[in-house]
Amino acid sequence: MKHYAVFGSPIHHSQSPFIHAMFAQQTGIALEYTAIEAGHDDFRAKLDASAVDGANVTLPLKKDAFTLCADVSSRARRARAVNTLIRDGDGWRGDNTDGLGLVRDLTERRGMDLRQRRVLMLGAGGAAHGVAPALLDAGVRELVIVNRTISRAEQLSDALGEPDRVHARGWDALAKLGSFDLLINATAASRSGALLTLPMALVESRSDAVDLSYGEAAVAFLAWARAAGCVKTVDGLGMLVEQAAESFLLWHGVRPQTDAVFADLSARSVALFTAD
Ligand code: ATR
Repeated sequence: MKHYAVFGSPIHHSQSPFIHAMFAQQTGIALEYTAIEAGHDDFRAKLDASAVDGANVTLPLKKDAFTLCADVSSRARRARAVNTLIRDGDGWRGDNTDGLGLVRDLTERRGMDLRQRRVLMLGAGGAAHGVAPALLDAGVRELVIVNRTISRAEQLSDALGEPDRVHARGWDALAKLGSFDLLINATAASRSGALLTLPMALVESRSDAVDLSYGEAAVAFLAWARAAGCVKTVDGLGMLVEQAAESFLLWHGVRPQTDAVFADLSARSVALFTAD
């Protein structure tokens, strides 16, 4: 039986073993999928020791995974981050399914049309890197990246290489940016219990909002978005299931159905998804 795992820290809350077990059952593919706690210092050693056939990589290891790959897909190169490791002889090939997972959830499950939309992305860390290329590929009109540390927003914007569509701003510019069709929270603020301070003027009558976190970590931003008047408010659970399905496809050559798994996870209490 083939063995797969998700690496990250903290990892005990990860839903990936459950999701991949459901996919395996559905497709009749025998596999084992475990969660392995690992940080920057011990990731490589634990990956080697696990002898897995493939792996998912989550916080805070997506950049570490990118650097250990002998080869990466173009979308992983654009994201400068890897969430899926595919064994290639003695080494690893890296891919990133986060962005496609987000776009699939927003367009196919939530019925959003991203084309020509003006999009605000809060944050310029690993999560933002993972999804930004796919948003551009989905045809957004403008992507404004706002980050507390403006140099990181500028780095991401430069790496995306589309100066006509992508703009970087500091947090203090937020009140002057006008309104957006879609607001994306890709910050880690909630992980440290911090609340984002955001002007209501970012929202107009047809704005939607998405938080790349799920469960309790997404509650504060989405509550703000609802209060500000956003129409659809979406957490990252659908993206989680869709990125997992894309990883499953890369490993096994079969794309599983995601609706039943998403419905199952959604039906559980928010507390289950608390990240600590
Ligand atoms: P992740 O992989 O979750 O993106 P990360 O790479 O550490 O984690 O990036 C965290 C992001 O959340 C960064 O954009 C960070 O802003 P800085 O680059 O200025 O550090 C952002 N972030 C974290 N806490 C925040 C807060 N309290 N307010 C605003 N942004 C915050």
